[in-house]
Amino acid sequence: MDDERLIEVARNACRNAYAPYSGFSVGAAVLDEIGRIHIGCNVENAAFPEGTCAEANAIAAMVVAGGRRIAAIAVVGGRDAPGPCTPCGGCRQKIAELAGDGTRILLLDDAGNIESRSLPELLPRSFHLDP
Ligand code: THU
Repeated sequence: MDDERLIEVARNACRNAYAPYSGFSVGAAVLDEIGRIHIGCNVENAAFPEGTCAEANAIAAMVVAGGRRIAAIAVVGGRDAPGPCTPCGGCRQKIAELAGDGTRILLLDDAGNIESRSLPELLPRSFHLDP
């Protein structure tokens, strides 16, 4: 699975975002430990705190399909066109739950190039709780 393909899938998911309140559409695509892709988009709600992020929905789709490890995750979004969007703090923590130091977190840079970041870069010293 190349990174361009994962970004493309995230872009397609972004097109289905339900974001009437913010106008900020986000799509996410997760590559799991056996090479499957799971997608999500943000789904907003009139009761604002009830909305869900694209990454959270993609991670939930992976888990319900039996996936347990995030090999890579691509995130795209923005107000005008799918462009650079970095995961919010809560989503970084959700990614941390099922990712490792080798997980690729793929973002678009300002020039439209793919920027690959690691979890320790985006969420240093993340919180963990032993089950
Ligand atoms: N959003 C995401 O889906 N993922 C993020 O990491 C950042 C924010 C959504 C939430 C809300 O629907 C909209 O973008 C504006 O915050």
